[in-house]
Order: sequence, then structure tokens, then C-alpha cells
Amino acid sequence: MYKKAFITGINGQDGAYLSQLLLEKGYEVHGLVRRASLDRNDRIKPFLDKVFLHYGDMTDSTNLVRLVMEICPDEIYNLAAQSHVAVSFETPEYTANADALGTLRLLEAIRIAGLEKSCRFYQASTSELFGNAEVSPQNETTPFRPASPYAAAKLYAYWVTRNYRDAYGMHASNGILFNHESPLRGKNFVTRKITSAAAAYKRGEKKLLKLGNLNAKRDWGHAKDYVRGMWMMLQQDEPDDYVFATGRAETVRRFVELAYEVVGVALDWSGEGVNEKGLDRASGEVLVQVDPSLYRPVDVGHLCGDASKAKVILHWKPMCTLDDLINEMVVFDIDNQTK
Ligand code: NAP
Ligand code: GDD
Repeated sequence: MYKKAFITGINGQDGAYLSQLLLEKGYEVHGLVRRASLDRNDRIKPFLDKVFLHYGDMTDSTNLVRLVMEICPDEIYNLAAQSHVAVSFETPEYTANADALGTLRLLEAIRIAGLEKSCRFYQASTSELFGNAEVSPQNETTPFRPASPYAAAKLYAYWVTRNYRDAYGMHASNGILFNHESPLRGKNFVTRKITSAAAAYKRGEKKLLKLGNLNAKRDWGHAKDYVRGMWMMLQQDEPDDYVFATGRAETVRRFVELAYEVVGVALDWSGEGVNEKGLDRASGEVLVQVDPSLYRPVDVGHLCGDASKAKVILHWKPMCTLDDLINEMVVFDIDNQTK
């Protein structure tokens, strides 16, 4: 018997990798997409004819109820979100509506459809919940200290998922995922911004890479590894919450160095704070500059995860190293970049 999955955020980075994985496993894959004036299905283009797309929005309860009733999924992966931390400071109310209340709407849709005993639910929780945590590395027992409207909205979604598990016996679980990247990452996230700048430099384009906080440390893994973890969670007999991470954290500055190394450029740094610059060691040319307008009102300084629970219980481990990830992203950007 094949299973039916419903993925919100199917045309996002994770939605694309997860769809591919579920199709390979023989699932019938349904996805929620928003109407847009231009097509936004690039990431799922290779298998667009194999998935069932439904128009909708996480802010529209009646739409979510109707879709869950019509699709009758065995598994729901709630990946849809206004997922950009900096943007959440600009659009805090919308972020709360889509990310916090959107999760509640979907959980209620499952109840209204009478699927609370049969449909398993994955919630895309995040290491941003830890904020500027006092301990490192962070695991499932680390206290949450959300430091942005995005993280505060995701905190509500985390708890309401747990609440529906406790109150209604639903198989509802949180994946607390640390940053995961890929060639499909949006270009306004720092990793892809950096890899596309390194690729542009390789092609001879003279463009300065402007960044905000170079000191922030993140635990970066590959999205492909993390969507495998999402699926593994929903195959467990019991619902539970799991951290997925690599355990290696590096600064944004180090990520820049590693990306430029792929295109044969060694960087030196000079200056401090807003005056810091990254220079091509060979030519002295300035390639990287700090732009204070990219600083966040509050930033999370250091995230590093401990995925021991997922390793022991799910037998999950990340396969891709940071160096391989950066290499894959830069090479993809060299081959595919449009100006
Ligand atoms: P992404 O690339 O930004 O994709 C987000 C998806 O959500 C897109 O398909 C987007 O559709 C959709 N969406 C946004 N607002 C919506 C709304 N109101 N109604 C319906 N769909 C909406 O994000 P991602 O990196 O794949 O992340 C997937 C999920 O994991 C997100 O919930 C994110 O917060 C969470 N997460 C990500 C990471 C990470 O490092 N990637 C780590 C932890 C947690 P449009 O194309 O129409 O905008
Ligand atoms: N986006 C961006 N752009 N970030 C920059 C820049 C820049 O030009 N310069 C420095 N940074 C710093 C940010 O201040 C932050 O400390 C770090 O780089 C990472 O920023 P993002 O790549 O935007 O990711 P994020 O960590 O804020 O959020 C991502 O990971 C979360 C999991 O920890 C998103 O995918 C979230 O949806 C996810 O929950």
C-alpha cells in the first residue's frame, strides 16, 4: 500500500528535497503552493509531473481544512513558513500569523477531518528556538530563549504541536533543525549569498560581497541529510522531538574563506567591526565588506547542536561534511548562475 504525504512549503528548499525522497519511496506526494504572479516552482521542476499541487496559504483556515479532508494524508510535513529571521523583524505580525497560527490551523484541520489517530504530523521547528543559549552544544533539553519574531512564532508552533500530541494522542513531532543549506537555498540566506558571490568572482564579475555580522557562528549541514531525518521521525512508533545538527559550528567569516578557497582565492582580513574587509591575498583587491544595514536588531551569536538522541534512536547521522557542502554549492553556482 502506498502512502500519501501532504507537504506545506513544497516549493521551498526542504520541500523540494523531501518531495524527491518521498517519491523515491513510492509515496503519493501532495503539496501546498501559494499563487504568485510568477512561477515559483523551479526547485520542484524535475518532478513537477509526479506531484499534486494545491493552491493555498497557511493563513487560510478554510483552505487548509478542505485540503486535508480531500487529500486524507497519512503524513503531513509542515514546512511552510516565513523562514527569514531578518525579514521577521520587518513583518512580525505576518510571520506570527503564518508560522505560529498557521501551524495551529493545520493541526485543527487534522482534527476537523477526523484524522487525529491516523495522520502523522511533522513540525519544522528550529535551532533559532535556543536563541543566545547559555549552554553549547544545544540539545532537546536546552531551555529556549527565542531572539526574533520568527523564533517567537516558531516557539508557539513547537508547543502547540506538543500540546496536540498530549491532548489528542496525535502522532505529532518537532524536528529541531540546525541550519541546513544546499544549492537550492534561497539567495538571501548567508551561505548561498556567499557561494554565489564566490562563483561570480570566478566568472570574472567584479562585485563586492556585502555582509552583516561576520562573527555569528552556525552549525551548517546539508538539507538532503535533514529531510531524511524528518521522514525517519514519522516512521517511529512513538511521536517525539529531535535535534538534527552536525556538531560543528563555524563563523560566517570562516564560511566566506572556505567558499573563496573553492575558486582558488585565499582571503586576508583587515580592520574590525563595520570597517572589516576581506582582501584577495594575491592581489590585495577588496572582495568582502561589512554593511551595517545588514545587522539584525538582535542576532543569535552561536548555535551548535548535539544530535545524540537522533543518532541513538533514529540511527540518523549527517553524511555531508561542511567542506563538501560548500564545494557543492559553489560548483553549482558556477555552472548555473544567472547574473
Ligand atoms: P524556504 O526555502 O524559505 O521555504 C519556505 C516555504 O514555505 C516556501 O515553499 C514558501 O512558499 C512557503 N510559504 C511561506 N509562507 C507561506 C504561507 N503563508 N502559506 C503557504 N506557504 C508559505 O524554507 P526552508 O529552508 O525550506 O525551510 C523549511 C522549514 O523549515 C521552514 O518552516 C523553516 O522555518 C524551517 N527551518 C529551516 C531551517 C534551515 O536551515 N533551512 C532550519 C530550521 C527550520 P513561497 O515560495 O510561496 O514563498
Ligand atoms: N541572511 C544574511 N545575509 N545573514 C547574514 C548576512 C547577510 O548578508 N551577513 C551576516 N549574516 C549572519 C546573520 O546575522 C546570522 O547570524 C547568520 O549570518 C545566518 O543568517 P541566515 O543565513 O539568514 O540564517 P539564520 O541562521 O538567521 O536562519 C536560518 O536558520 C534557522 C535555523 O537556525 C533560517 O533557515 C531559519 O529559517 C532557520 O530556522
